Amino acid sequence: MATGIPATPASESPLVEVPGAGARRVRRWGLTIALGSFLFGYDTGVVSGALLFIRRVFHLNAFEQGAVVSVLLLGAIVGALLSGRVADRIGRRWALFGLGVVFAVGILVAALAVNYWMLLVGRVVMGLAVGGVSANVPTYLSELAPPQIRGRVLTLNQLLITVGLLVSYLVDMAFSGSENWRAMFGVGAVPAIALAIGCLWLPESPTWLVMNHRFAQARTVVESVVDATDADRMIERYRRQEATRLGERGHGAAVRGMRALRAPHVRAALVVAVTLAAMQQFVGINTIIYYAPTIMVETGLSASNAIVYSVFIGAINLAMTIVSLRLVDRIGRRPLLLGSLIGMLVTLALLGLSFVAHLGSVTTLVFMLLYIVFFAVGMGPIFWVLLGEIFPHRERAEGAAVGSTVNWLSNFIVSLVFLPVVNAIGQGETFWIFAVVCAFGLWFVYHYVPETREREFEELDADLQARWRHRAVRSPPSGKEPAGPPLPAG
Ligand code: GLC
Repeated sequence: MATGIPATPASESPLVEVPGAGARRVRRWGLTIALGSFLFGYDTGVVSGALLFIRRVFHLNAFEQGAVVSVLLLGAIVGALLSGRVADRIGRRWALFGLGVVFAVGILVAALAVNYWMLLVGRVVMGLAVGGVSANVPTYLSELAPPQIRGRVLTLNQLLITVGLLVSYLVDMAFSGSENWRAMFGVGAVPAIALAIGCLWLPESPTWLVMNHRFAQARTVVESVVDATDADRMIERYRRQEATRLGERGHGAAVRGMRALRAPHVRAALVVAVTLAAMQQFVGINTIIYYAPTIMVETGLSASNAIVYSVFIGAINLAMTIVSLRLVDRIGRRPLLLGSLIGMLVTLALLGLSFVAHLGSVTTLVFMLLYIVFFAVGMGPIFWVLLGEIFPHRERAEGAAVGSTVNWLSNFIVSLVFLPVVNAIGQGETFWIFAVVCAFGLWFVYHYVPETREREFEELDADLQARWRHRAVRSPPSGKEPAGPPLPAG
């Protein structure tokens, strides 16, 4: 499958010098953008504590309580689906600005809800924004960061998701004495407004600017990160890629929207994104993130300690995401993903065993924490990193939108069926199903997921296409070499 883009000649290595000031600037932009990720974590986490009081005030039964949690996921599915088109049309920056406003509206509606229905509306609106940022943030971050620091910048996304989760548990704890669930939601309005205001100072993505033929503006953005000659080189590359893409289709007008994803050169990236998206949820992470207290009570622990365990799990999740952030540009995405899947496979098997063999709550807690450790160093952040990296420029926003839609859909399915499945086959056996998903994940990542570290798009795409060609043809022309980077170094 031809990519249509010539491989990078050695004299034109994508690795440009990133001066300290440029790197700091990108990090500052990244932190502003990732306020969106903070809200993703905060709004998905805050409900666990708030629900304890909401259900009393509005007299909610079990189904209605479940709905308060899961309508956000439904909103997120829709928000993610729409985000690509919006980000392509009005740009990454104004799309993010709009999402900040949507967050603020949803949060206020929920915090001021006078009845159950108003609360649900608020949660759906919050969900739209959560889904939107989950696709827009990786795209935007990836397009602003030069290759050497792209991994680190992209992991800011998951880092701030986990910070948001942890902060939401702490805010829940702080307001649980006064039973003030409105304040629990309301606190989220502060970062939402900060996000919208922060966007006013952000530069637009240079990739989007080039796609819209605003070359001078794109150059100004790139030049504020790397030096002038490198900036020229990068813009020239973007411009050439654009020309090749348009030439390939034989006509000037690019195919826009989801339809663009049907093109053969996008297929491999799409399959990788969608498979990783589903896998990241079907390894069962949110059964622990959303239900840890319920699970722990099951092993004989007092309910009053439950919230403390949530905080503990949130802290470990955050700490290990920081470890991942330090490793991602050094050892690469593939080793982190593979190590993470092996670790989760083993800890899930043991976690299952601890239930089946009644090994007690301490053992269960230890395995649960180890499982979080392995998720947080790899699968958690790396899926979102790859989502921002593996699509061609023109299809990136729509591709990321489809990937995150599948992620939210899978999240919704797992959250919906988890408790019924546990009731039907048992807690331990359910964790063993998640372990099987990890085994499939290992096989898939080993064969099909390319390394993206320090690579410009052409290089990683060549690796991606080679892996798929290799599997399809079985005997590649190059001989018995395992699928791998086909390009000469440099
Ligand atoms: C990832 C998942 C999200 C989960 C979080 C936990 O971001 O996509 O669903 O809640 O990790 O850290």
